[in-house]
Amino acid sequence: MERELAGQSSHAIEPIAEISAYLHEGGGKRLRPAVLLLAAGAAGYRGPGAIRLGAVVELIHTATLMHDDVIDGADTRRGRPSANARWGNHMSVLAGDWLYMQSFQLALKERNFRILDVLIDLTQRMVEGELLQWTHLGRIDLTEGEALNLAYRKTACLFSGCARLGAILGHLDPETEDLMADYGRSAGLAFQLIDDLLDFTSSTEQLGKPVLSDLREGKVTLPLIYALATGDTAGRDLVARVLEDKGFDRVRPEQITALVNESGALVRARRLACDFAVKAKAALDPLPDSEYRRALLWIPDFILERES
Ligand code: IPE
Ligand code: IPE
Ligand code: MG
Ligand code: MG
Repeated sequence: MERELAGQSSHAIEPIAEISAYLHEGGGKRLRPAVLLLAAGAAGYRGPGAIRLGAVVELIHTATLMHDDVIDGADTRRGRPSANARWGNHMSVLAGDWLYMQSFQLALKERNFRILDVLIDLTQRMVEGELLQWTHLGRIDLTEGEALNLAYRKTACLFSGCARLGAILGHLDPETEDLMADYGRSAGLAFQLIDDLLDFTSSTEQLGKPVLSDLREGKVTLPLIYALATGDTAGRDLVARVLEDKGFDRVRPEQITALVNESGALVRARRLACDFAVKAKAALDPLPDSEYRRALLWIPDFILERES
């Protein structure tokens, strides 16, 4: 999969080849291709298509991150300057567009309309997620349901698509294919909730991106929603001030960390992530035992325990 991925932009014109190589070297956890490859294996598929589609979903993920960093004005990604920080917004948007199209060109090699259907659907949902998030920016009254909807569109639908593509390659029956997709959806929701938590609890060195950046960017995530739900008005004032200033001018970052800690909000958000991890594993019940299925069962635990 890494070889397939590396070869994708070698024939591109110079700025694109350079930006793509830079992103590729930056690494990343490669969790989405892992889900796809393991799901295909668990579904009994043995062939080259899973490797190719693994590269496809990682390309889509990379394109999304490039556009996301432009939208969020982020300077750091995977522990190094983001593409927009190095090449500017214009180049990053265009390179992201190119990567999206490259991923679809690669997917087309499967000559399978179902696969294209899944990929187009999830890519549109991800774009909708970014758009919705943009319209919700700075909203202190965001609800739990709205936050989960964003997490689904931004992250879980790609995980779900990865698991479903594996099932499609293995020609699983429609019910089992849907269970695979449920697995990916629940694992993806757990992943995004943990991402929201890490923004409060981790360090920049660990994450490879600055901490407490969600609130600074105007994003009220689940831990904050839970902290605000306790009715603590002093806490609400702190959050409102950071949103108003779009930064930590009048409020110290530790005050926000203390708020989510002491209100029990972090514990509550982690509990929800654990619930999704349990749900993900349960969705795999009908699959026959194999080393692939066992590895898929391990992924939700990895998601809960990850530190970067
Ligand atoms: C980052 O995803 C974007 C989110 C969905 C939060 P990852 O944390 O999987 O990014 P990489 O690919 O490992 O860098
Ligand atoms: C990640 O969104 C990009 C998508 C999954 C669309 P965020 O803006 O919340 O994540 P980071 O913090 O930049 O990785
Ligand atoms: Mg971002
Ligand atoms: Mg974003």
